[in-house]
Amino acid sequence: MTLDEPSFLEARSILASAERVAVFSGAGLSAESGISTFRDQEPDALWSRFDPMLLASVEGFAENPGRVIDWYNWRRAKLAQATPNPAHLALAAQPGLVHITQNVDDLLERAGVSPERILRLHGAIDIDCCHAVCGFEERVDVANAPPLRPCPRCGAPVRPAVVWFGERLPEAAWQRSEAISAAVDCLLVVGTSATVYPAANLVHRAIAGGRAKIVVLNTRRSELTGAAHVELLGTAGSTLPKLLRGLSLHSD
Ligand code: OAD
Repeated sequence: MTLDEPSFLEARSILASAERVAVFSGAGLSAESGISTFRDQEPDALWSRFDPMLLASVEGFAENPGRVIDWYNWRRAKLAQATPNPAHLALAAQPGLVHITQNVDDLLERAGVSPERILRLHGAIDIDCCHAVCGFEERVDVANAPPLRPCPRCGAPVRPAVVWFGERLPEAAWQRSEAISAAVDCLLVVGTSATVYPAANLVHRAIAGGRAKIVVLNTRRSELTGAAHVELLGTAGSTLPKLLRGLSLHSD
């Protein structure tokens, strides 16, 4: 993508004139940090190598909890090796932004985004919690995460604090994400296939709000191609720093 391409200039102009901008991100944001996407056409996409129903569902956990924990610990070890890429850093350089993310990694925080400005729709892989929801929660060292273990408070199995298929999204993060999406002038959508609901509904929530322009950044055309006011085809790491340079964006 070149800096004088019409779509790039239009995206810059939408962002520059928007009073309120929020970012809605997915796995593509962290791809250049070496974190696998899920249903990308890339050979390492997780759901082309692993069965989500065995590894990311309540039923899969009931059937074989050790297998699930081992798989998450393998992903945690990869995250321990990863560092924020230029896309995370470009976003972190905009402290006024709120981030609605489907990502469970902590790379936005590590890039310098304040945790209060990140709404994690699918939870956090670096936190363990009690599967029986007794209230036990603990941050884990992703480089050296514990194997399957009982909850120290109630004895139920401990699991990663991520949302599995069929589970509800964290209510507070969802409510706030909906309200923000309905109020923005621009939703900047980065690196998501927008195929997982209810998260993907936020784009339609923004459109229904009547004022938002949707700027999509993805390496390829996606479900959002039709809904986007502007679609930028490129990698997040190479495009976001140029797109946001010199702007001062705010979500509220
Ligand atoms: P997907 O893997 O479905 O989509 C990733 C998107 O990022 C694709 O559209 C790619 O084209 C795009 N992409 C890949 N590399 C990129 C790059 N360098 N720059 C920009 N875009 C890039 O991931 P998500 O949309 O995040 O849920 O998936 C949503 C949810 O599905 C995940 O949160 C996860 C998964 O099942 C749970 O775990 C609950």
